[in-house]
Amino acid sequence: MSAAEEPIRIGEEDRVFVLTGAGVSAESGLKTFRDQGGLWEGYRVEDVATPEAWEEDAERVWRFYSERRKRAGLAEPNPAHRALAELEQALGERFFLCTQNVDDLHERAGSRRLIHMHGELFVSRCENACGRAPFADHKLYESEAEIARCGCGGRIRPHIVWFGEIPLEMERIQQEIDRATVMLVVGTSGAVYPAANFVRWAGPRVRKYYIGPEEPMNAAAFTRLVLGDAGAVLPGLLEAGNRE
Ligand code: OAD
Repeated sequence: MSAAEEPIRIGEEDRVFVLTGAGVSAESGLKTFRDQGGLWEGYRVEDVATPEAWEEDAERVWRFYSERRKRAGLAEPNPAHRALAELEQALGERFFLCTQNVDDLHERAGSRRLIHMHGELFVSRCENACGRAPFADHKLYESEAEIARCGCGGRIRPHIVWFGEIPLEMERIQQEIDRATVMLVVGTSGAVYPAANFVRWAGPRVRKYYIGPEEPMNAAAFTRLVLGDAGAVLPGLLEAGNRE
């Protein structure tokens, strides 16, 4: 076994915090953001993923997220999603997953102790803070006329954290980082904050592993980098024999 494949040991005393990004879904066929020459499915991020874009052209924003709903609905979890769900099964409440992804592939692989810090593709909410809770929504909205209205009169928008908005559940995430002894970061470029700082928020005794095909921008903060595709390497790194 080469050093790159040396397993990650998880003991009885350990608590594991996992952060995933677009790379964990790459082998399921969902494109990552930053390897496309600044374009995201042919759109500029600022035209589809900002509050300003919503004000300017809600139809374009919904067309973009409707397309992503379609693609995510057709994708299947890959071995990386499944390996993380199995780890959760083994560790129970000593496991916590924070994903930057808005797809539902972690849930469909069986993960339950997770937070979507950038929102969820299959959830919508009112654009106004009218008190209506976000709700499950698989519909496609492809023209202005199709965009649903809330009882308060506001338009229904994707439950997605756009650039310039505040990520969800940061307090809970901070608590889970504070008590973790192992941090696994999978498939994220380390370019978008605050998630890129989680590895720095973790204490010096926390073992910090990065798994992905290339070095992230915050590589220096990790104990070990395992360079490889998550679906190919994660199951072996986390296999049951490594747990006490
Ligand atoms: P990026 O697109 O920035 O980075 C994807 C990362 O996945 C890169 O570091 C790739 O090397 C890695 N990668 C590619 N294939 C992989 C594989 N098979 N296995 C493991 N890793 C692989 O995506 P994120 O870092 O997730 O925000 O982006 C963070 C945030 O920026 C997203 O949540 C989104 C985006 O704009 C919002 O939507 C608010």
